[in-house]
Amino acid sequence: MKINLSNIKKSKFYLDKNECIGIPTETVYGLAANAYSQKATSKIFRLKKRPKKNPLIVHYYDLKMLKNDCEFNNDFLKLYKKFSPGPITFVLKLKKNSKISKNVTNKKKTLAVRFPKHPVSRKLLKLLKYPLAAPSANISTKISPVSSKDVKDEFGKKIKFVLDGGSSKIGLESTIVGLINGTQILRLGGIEIKKINKVLKTNLKYKPKNKTLNVPGQFKTHYSPGIPIRMNANTPRPGEAFILIKKRKSSDRNFYYLSKKNNLKEAAKNLYKTLRMIKNKKFKKIAIEKIPNIGFGEAINDRISRASKV
Ligand code: TXA
Ligand code: MG
Repeated sequence: MKINLSNIKKSKFYLDKNECIGIPTETVYGLAANAYSQKATSKIFRLKKRPKKNPLIVHYYDLKMLKNDCEFNNDFLKLYKKFSPGPITFVLKLKKNSKISKNVTNKKKTLAVRFPKHPVSRKLLKLLKYPLAAPSANISTKISPVSSKDVKDEFGKKIKFVLDGGSSKIGLESTIVGLINGTQILRLGGIEIKKINKVLKTNLKYKPKNKTLNVPGQFKTHYSPGIPIRMNANTPRPGEAFILIKKRKSSDRNFYYLSKKNNLKEAAKNLYKTLRMIKNKKFKKIAIEKIPNIGFGEAINDRISRASKV
């Protein structure tokens, strides 16, 4: 996509003034602010209505600036080399003399960091003298945004600017890897676990309940369209929008396809977009066909099971 330099400069102008803006990434859009500023990062929590105890992911251009804030280890460097920039987040040890705002870490000694691949956010990060704290740009517990219009849908005039970067290619948040007490998968997302295992020569699995590193943001209800969702449905009941993973012979107006050919990566990309569309069409209920629990299907099932807990 063509990069609009004047919009990037406008973004820098607001960020330098401790404002929050929407930024595009390849996973989902983020609500970004200067991660070194107490004032700027406190605005993120206010705008998102996010509990203070839920720490933020910080976005860097490359390792050079990260060196001031975090300690590295071998698994981190291996994964960084293979997957960054890209849809993977690392939880690392925070350095004592780091300038990261206490708001970001919830006063803890760890930091979640990511290197987004989207060319627009990379161009912006390269211009800045600080990294960007950026959680997904949605009101806490709601559906994550995958376009600049979605961000405006969430915050309206409450934010000064949304930097447009088209629709997010991955459409699902980054995979989070904890590197503190050994290496653990903390959240399923844009990089499949099997790829991580291949690089590390391990057999890590995602166990939501069995982890020593707590991910406070993994609340029971999350990614919610605000209406009930029924999983593993064969047919829709009256009044339900019906989400399917592959094309059926006969389909009704309330049928929404995540993929034409049962492709799980494509389905993951379309999940949030479809949930938001259904919500905006004023359906009161959603039914979802059974999604195979493999590869990206595991991440999709994780998101819809949380979204279904209203
Ligand atoms: O793809 C993504 O990761 C997007 C884009 C914008 O980069 N960001 C994103 O941020 O999904 P957020 O805040 O919606 O989700 C971050 C998750 C939360 O569940 C939070 O609790 C967890 O990461 N987290 C943040 N810092 C952490 C830390 N130090 N240790 C463990 N978990 C952490
Ligand atoms: Mg989020």
